[in-house]
Amino acid sequence: MNDILPGVANTWRYLESVVQDIVQSYGYEEIRLPILEDTDLFKRSIGEVTDIVEKEMYTFEDRNGESLTLRPEATASVARAGMTNGLLHNQKQKLWTSGPMFRYEKPQKGRYRQFHQFNVEALGYDGPDIDAELIIMSARMWQRLGIGKIRLEINSLGVPESRARYREALVGYFSGVKNRLDEDSIRRLEQNPLRILDSKNPDMQEIIQAAPVMLDYLDDESVEHFAGLKALLDAAGVPFEVNPRLVRGLDYYSRTVFEWITDALGSQGAVCSGGRYDGLVEKLGGRATPAVGWAMGIERFVALYEACGGESPLTVPDVYIAALGEGTQARAFALAEELRDQVAGIRVEMNLGGGSFKSQMKRADKSSAAYALILGEQELSQDRIGLKPLRSGDEQESIALDDLAAVLQGKLSGA
Ligand code: HAM
Repeated sequence: MNDILPGVANTWRYLESVVQDIVQSYGYEEIRLPILEDTDLFKRSIGEVTDIVEKEMYTFEDRNGESLTLRPEATASVARAGMTNGLLHNQKQKLWTSGPMFRYEKPQKGRYRQFHQFNVEALGYDGPDIDAELIIMSARMWQRLGIGKIRLEINSLGVPESRARYREALVGYFSGVKNRLDEDSIRRLEQNPLRILDSKNPDMQEIIQAAPVMLDYLDDESVEHFAGLKALLDAAGVPFEVNPRLVRGLDYYSRTVFEWITDALGSQGAVCSGGRYDGLVEKLGGRATPAVGWAMGIERFVALYEACGGESPLTVPDVYIAALGEGTQARAFALAEELRDQVAGIRVEMNLGGGSFKSQMKRADKSSAAYALILGEQELSQDRIGLKPLRSGDEQESIALDDLAAVLQGKLSGA
């Protein structure tokens, strides 16, 4: 679990704000969800026989003996919140949410035990158009931020009936090579053979590559849905690859699944992943509600942005106020508040802790402010203040306090 330090947090906040602006502009609304949920919610949604539920959840009993879990992902909570708050009854929802998620994984670059996701979920929509919208929206984020080095893989997992036929084919195939399966896969063969395809064991990859693929077992409606999505992506100019082996690590998916993958970050290449989960709400006891969404891993997103040469706008002060001598500090405080009232968006940093003229100017310089405002006893007695440009060789000016806001407004807007 990592501390996100000030310089880095600046980039996080910038990227989060860009992403929030984009999804809000598509009509998605924020929902804020608890970090703790009943353990059962995740078991039922993500699936008992998955890496997340079997090995990675932070689960504990509360004082009342109830089993709670730190959320490993947010989709289950969105579905739960939609049901418990009556948001899905005769309504459609386009939602976003973000925050920390917890998985007890082996920490490595791009894989952490507390990580952060930005999630987008659309509930109540069944056509491929919303799948396309969600993907087009993510493509816009990369474009807006100058992120290249990323490709889109899509697949369809069909509906439960077609998946049952596929399951049989998989069991047949894997049973034939049972002596070459690892321990996890042998156990999954009976319980959840699809999860074998998700194995990260390098020794299993050859066997997995030769396994039957879901696309050959799709029902007609899923074929049509998938074709609809592909046509909309083509029309929107969003390139994609069909990867028939993309299965995702959570059990709630049906039909569309997709991942945005980069090679720029080493082995943890999935930056933004998701898909359709038409059966989840019903499985949790609600009314059948088609749904689809994605989640972006913010750590990976930030790393990719930086790998693509992205920088975040620096938040440095516009002015640094130095005050020297009797009565000047109180006036400087009042002045700072006046500037904050009168000059839209101005960033004002006060010198705190006193100090000589020299040490205050040293701090002003270190703050990277564009200007120092210097209030001494003499200036104060004349209702004036010194304005010293710190980033150019220009001379210090003396400004009437009454004119200061207007002068700064002009200078900061480049007038
Ligand atoms: P997921 O693929 O498990 O899907 O996670 C989504 C994204 O979160 C990944 O693509 C990755 O960027 C990031 N991520 C996952 N685990 C870690 C980790 N340990 N450290 C750093 N980043 C990580 C889900 O969670 C689904 N709920 C996505 C979804 C939303 N499907 C439909 N709606």
